[in-house]
Amino acid sequence: MTAPVIAIDGPSASGKGTVAERVARALGFHYLDSGALYRLVALAAQRGGIALDDVPGLARTAGAMQIEFREGRAWLSGEDVSEALRAEAVGVAASRVAAAPEVRACLLDRQRGFRAPPGLVADGRDMGSVVFPDAALKVFLTAGVEIRAQRRHKQLMEKGMYAKMPDVVEELRQRDDRDMKRTVAPLKHYPDAVFLDTTAISVDEAVASVLAEWRNRS
Ligand code: C5P
Repeated sequence: MTAPVIAIDGPSASGKGTVAERVARALGFHYLDSGALYRLVALAAQRGGIALDDVPGLARTAGAMQIEFREGRAWLSGEDVSEALRAEAVGVAASRVAAAPEVRACLLDRQRGFRAPPGLVADGRDMGSVVFPDAALKVFLTAGVEIRAQRRHKQLMEKGMYAKMPDVVEELRQRDDRDMKRTVAPLKHYPDAVFLDTTAISVDEAVASVLAEWRNRS
């Protein structure tokens, strides 16, 4: 029997990463942050001098990069790049890299490789629609753009990264737009996913709600 997957998709700063990680911990499942893979491609390309419009170069980078996830940290060619990956510029570059079908194809097997017993919680934009279409539970987790911008702004300030609120809102709008309008694996609420709006609920409530859905199905 293949290991079950819980797919959690949604826009940037919706809280899906935090919720997915906590659900994984509660169930003792593995966790895949698929956005980190796109961020790793963007960072590896930047370091290798590959331009963001050089699609064959990006696809080569995605196929060849030496990556590892260990104890909640990400490693590129043996270097801990966890902090570098969270930079806003890397997120924006990742959303450009992610629009190339060739890059997405190169990352497909790597993502599926995370599926292992006793199960996997995977978060991203296309976990339930493309990467794990047979996921046992699919959740589309979202929140209004203003609240997402407030959360992202708080995170940035906590890390000592100064950002103006209107710029954060604008950057999220542009990223949503690019993620929703791309032709391959666009971000969307697919019909077989449970819709969870976290605008007015806490992380604890969102986690409890996903776990309740999971228990209803198992
Ligand atoms: O989730 P995160 O903000 O880390 O993702 C960075 C970018 O990677 C997103 O803006 C999106 O364009 C892309 N991405 C994707 N498909 C995924 C995960 C992330 O296209 N499954």
